[in-house]
Amino acid sequence: MSASPSRPARRGFARWLGETNEITRLFLAAGQIPDLINLAGGLPEPATFPVAELAELAGRAVAEHPGDALAYPPIEGLPALRDRIAERYASERLRLTRDNVLIVSGGMQGLDLLGKVLLDPGGLVAAQAPTYLGALDAWRPRAPRYRPFRPDRNDFDAEGALAGAQFAYCVPNFSNPTGRLVGTGTRRALVAAAETTGTWLVEDDPYGALHYDGEPLPRMIELAAVPGEAPYDGPVLYLGTLSKEIAPGLRIGWVIAAPGMIRALTLAKQGSDLASSGLGQRIALDALDSGLDRKVLPGILETYRRRRDALCAALAGQLADWFDWEVPVGGMFVWAVARDPALDTDRLLAAALEARVCVTPGSVFDPEGRDRRAIRLNFTLNDEARLAEGVRRLATALRALPA
Ligand SMILES: Cc1ncc(COP(=O)(O)O)c(C=O)c1O
Repeated sequence: MSASPSRPARRGFARWLGETNEITRLFLAAGQIPDLINLAGGLPEPATFPVAELAELAGRAVAEHPGDALAYPPIEGLPALRDRIAERYASERLRLTRDNVLIVSGGMQGLDLLGKVLLDPGGLVAAQAPTYLGALDAWRPRAPRYRPFRPDRNDFDAEGALAGAQFAYCVPNFSNPTGRLVGTGTRRALVAAAETTGTWLVEDDPYGALHYDGEPLPRMIELAAVPGEAPYDGPVLYLGTLSKEIAPGLRIGWVIAAPGMIRALTLAKQGSDLASSGLGQRIALDALDSGLDRKVLPGILETYRRRRDALCAALAGQLADWFDWEVPVGGMFVWAVARDPALDTDRLLAAALEARVCVTPGSVFDPEGRDRRAIRLNFTLNDEARLAEGVRRLATALRALPA
């Protein structure tokens, strides 16, 4: 129905929403393109989801634990799930109790809540650059100022990076978008700087389990723990999730932090969704108790390792003249940087869509939108043949770009 001409004009949206930009418009248009190969998203392969096991756990949750699954859960989460998460991360050094744990509706809600409790309007965020787009989205309503830091630079000064910020944000394992690891020495330096400058340090870790080569590095929250201190009361907030280890549709994640921080986040969560789905939490608890995460992980790793190798082989075969990249040792993404500084990857996206392939231009991971030299390529969603075809299409798009 069209609007009545006699209706008065409606008030617009809140100011932070601003105008839809060109990139958003292109992404929206991508949904309409038939036979598009999507290398842009960050989605897991649905064939890895343990469907039969989750169906059984869901049935049992409702039939045997209706109080947990169907009633309003406590805001902080089901106590048994909080205990389970505390056990999962606790060590000799890192002493955790349920008071250190808040269950959230995916790591994404953790980012939203910590923006609410830590960030004043226009406040300063020290953010690892390039920065996860979802974090930028979560904090956009507060219009923060960003001070980017690049922990992989040799001259990285952790104290200078953190000083004066309301909090610092880092994805140390296989970052989104670059797929890179922050080394152990730099993790230690960030933790030490968080202590000396009194800055909260957010360790966002959805990809830590997706490790294809080499050994896992110590978590910053572990490095921040003071041996003998119980419960943990350090400056690092850790965000975890079941999205990449079991299935994102569960929407179950967690924040591990000092008890005072958990209390503040709980207040923010009360005003947000009251509690995360009890059904999802009960399924998550039984999944973790039965070791479902450990059971499915080898299959996920095998599939994603093969796909990473296929994407990198296709890049080497087709795009080596245009881009440089590193083979990531984990995670879901390859970050490819144009050799020619004049190549504008916002423009490349438009040409790529013409060739029926979608990639994410680097500009969306820069709060200023200025970095237009890189693209992020996902390798988890498509099989090897589709990845190779996607890269072929991208090469066609590059050849079609006006010089
Ligand atoms: C760096 C990072 N943080 C947080 C999330 C949010 O994950 P979820 O809300 O599914 O737990 C993602 C998802 O892709 C991510 O890449």
